[in-house]
Amino acid sequence: FHPTLCDGHGRTVSYLRLSVTDRCDLRCTYCMDERMTFLPKRDLLSIEELERLVGAFIDMGVRKVRLTGGEPLVRHGIMTLVAALGNAVAAGRLDEVTLTTNGTQLARHATGLAASGVRRVNVSLDTLDPAKYAAITRRGRLGQVLDGIEAARDAGLKVKINTMALRGVNDDEVLDIVDWAAGHGCDVAFIEVMPMGQVGADERAGQYWPLDDLRKVLEQRFDLRDTGFTTGGPARYAEVVGTGQRIGFITPMSHNFCSTCNRVRVNCRGELFSCLGREGSVDLRPALRGAADNAPLFAAIEDALARKPRGHDFGYGAGAVEGALSRSMNHTGG
Ligand code: GTP
Ligand code: 5AD
Ligand code: SF4
Repeated sequence: FHPTLCDGHGRTVSYLRLSVTDRCDLRCTYCMDERMTFLPKRDLLSIEELERLVGAFIDMGVRKVRLTGGEPLVRHGIMTLVAALGNAVAAGRLDEVTLTTNGTQLARHATGLAASGVRRVNVSLDTLDPAKYAAITRRGRLGQVLDGIEAARDAGLKVKINTMALRGVNDDEVLDIVDWAAGHGCDVAFIEVMPMGQVGADERAGQYWPLDDLRKVLEQRFDLRDTGFTTGGPARYAEVVGTGQRIGFITPMSHNFCSTCNRVRVNCRGELFSCLGREGSVDLRPALRGAADNAPLFAAIEDALARKPRGHDFGYGAGAVEGALSRSMNHTGG
């Protein structure tokens, strides 16, 4: 028996975000450098090791697992891991397994995901303009992602669109994106850009658009009502009165949600990040590889949890970014 995962600030951790690769077929400007160097493949945990690691977290009380990247669907063997987690859901050991994906490979994988027990996916989509999409992602093709979303819907998956709020980039499109989401049966969540990674930091600071301002734009067209709806993540949801269209707001910068944080991250190297917004991680590999039984792993996880920081302290001050992280987003998982 293991106690539920409690941190030193009275919060219970029930949500694991597992980044299964730092690689991605796109190079979104707010996420990584054009010439990103990825980890050598030999550094990655194997699918079997990832499976064992998640199993330990489940034993310790995690109820929800989200696979992230990089792009999770470019990881070889990913569907084996998804199937194992789907089995854990079927066995009642886990409430949910889900993914955050850029959508480029969804058309290929949607039915497989649904068959493995995935019920919903979060797909990044920042613009509906093909040229802008190519510019933001540096190498993506909009049509491919739209096809992926359609395939996911056809396979019976619920889709939440994740849209970065980027001033001067897609601020003219937020109403269209909500309309598009409504027309395609998707929830949508807007996200404030965080100061992660050194390359392009000034650009991100210039693009930061507080969601209170974005919401004012939406309210020119829609009557919005706050709801208590939650998926267990950081988004606060409003709905459009009349249609019920759900719109989420993820505001790490303007109204951080650290006090209700219920999650930790593990990356593809087996590093546990107890806070997205803080430097510092705990390497779980020695415990994972050093013994066949899970006792050392439980101890390492418990120890890291006890030292989980109260929260991040990044901010966009007057002209200067405070608390920016040198670690890039794809290295930790979003
Ligand atoms: P669901 O609620 O299950 O739909 O998922 P989610 O919103 O937790 O997951 P998703 O991967 O869609 O997260 C969207 C974005 O929210 C991430 O890419 C991050 O930008 C941000 N985010 C998620 N968790 C945290 C967190 O713990 N801290 C901070 N600062 N940002 C987070
Ligand atoms: N700030 C906030 N969110 C980010 N993402 C990537 N980089 C950042 C950043 N700097 C998010 C994207 C995507 C998810 C994988 O991570 O919105 O939806
Ligand atoms: Fe890839 Fe996601 Fe980063 Fe874009 S945000 S480069 S899709 S990992």
